[in-house]
Amino acid sequence: GSISRFPLIPVRGVPLMCSIANNWDTIWAFCPDPSDLLIAAYPKAGTTWTQEIVDLLLHNGDAEACKRAPTPVRSPFLEMFSPPPTSSGLDYLKNTDPPRIIKTHLPFQLVPTRFWENRCKVIYVSRNAKDNLVSYFHFDCMNKAQPEPGPWEGYISKFMHGELSWGSWYDHVKGYWAEREKRNILYLFYEDMKENPRREVERIMRYLDLSVSDEVISRIVELTSFKNMKENPMTNYSCVPPPVFDQSISPFMRKGEVGDWRNHFTPEQSKMFDEDYEKQMKGVNIPFRDLI
Ligand code: PPS
Repeated sequence: GSISRFPLIPVRGVPLMCSIANNWDTIWAFCPDPSDLLIAAYPKAGTTWTQEIVDLLLHNGDAEACKRAPTPVRSPFLEMFSPPPTSSGLDYLKNTDPPRIIKTHLPFQLVPTRFWENRCKVIYVSRNAKDNLVSYFHFDCMNKAQPEPGPWEGYISKFMHGELSWGSWYDHVKGYWAEREKRNILYLFYEDMKENPRREVERIMRYLDLSVSDEVISRIVELTSFKNMKENPMTNYSCVPPPVFDQSISPFMRKGEVGDWRNHFTPEQSKMFDEDYEKQMKGVNIPFRDLI
């Protein structure tokens, strides 16, 4: 079968897939339980990795327990009104008791306000702009629900202008950064997770007020390695079969590295990107690494 790529429709200025925009009122009215955890990220920043770490922490490192269902069932995607055969995130949420691990790609200002009213915990994952862009490009080639990525050069431009699905990366990372203290958001970096996964797993554990043994931490680090998550059918998105995800074009677990942008950007593209980056990030000091 085939599937048509969804056009984007702006919601308060943020381009979202039409399936999301057309159901916006329902999504905006969503009321979480105070015990629910929100994992927020710009697409391709490390959402799935973080979801898996959290589920394992909540299950004391029990690998079998965390193979009970694929990622989007164990940790529903709040705003996703997916094309069939996948159910929508809100359907999964209806059928799951709190505390739940809820995934979102919404920018801060579009997160349903009841998350803040109910003082839910929120983990935000960010990734350096160039690697995030590269990962998103490959994803848009294989995810047939997303708009056509078009050629690479033009894709860079769309990223810089905030024209991709879920909008501007710059606004996204800055929006959560500005609110992290007031809202008690745990702000993580993909590059930190790669550099020292153990340290970051422990950071998440403390944020969630959990306490697991050193041995269990080691097991979680191992279970959430790129290699293991790529081979695990519950985390590698084989649960979203073609025609939606065509992983023969690019696997969901594609490379899992820092600095892959160097294999994609020409020196000229990199220079142009850096100049624009400086303008868009002016006055904000978010410690992204491996960008230059
Ligand atoms: S999504 O669709 O937005 O939820 O995608 P997301 O999970 O945020 O990002 C996918 C990228 O994260 C990489 N990934 C990992 N890297 C290292 N270790 C682990 N365990 C891991 N799991 C997922 C995945 O490979 C995508 O990045 P790229 O650079 O494309 O490989």
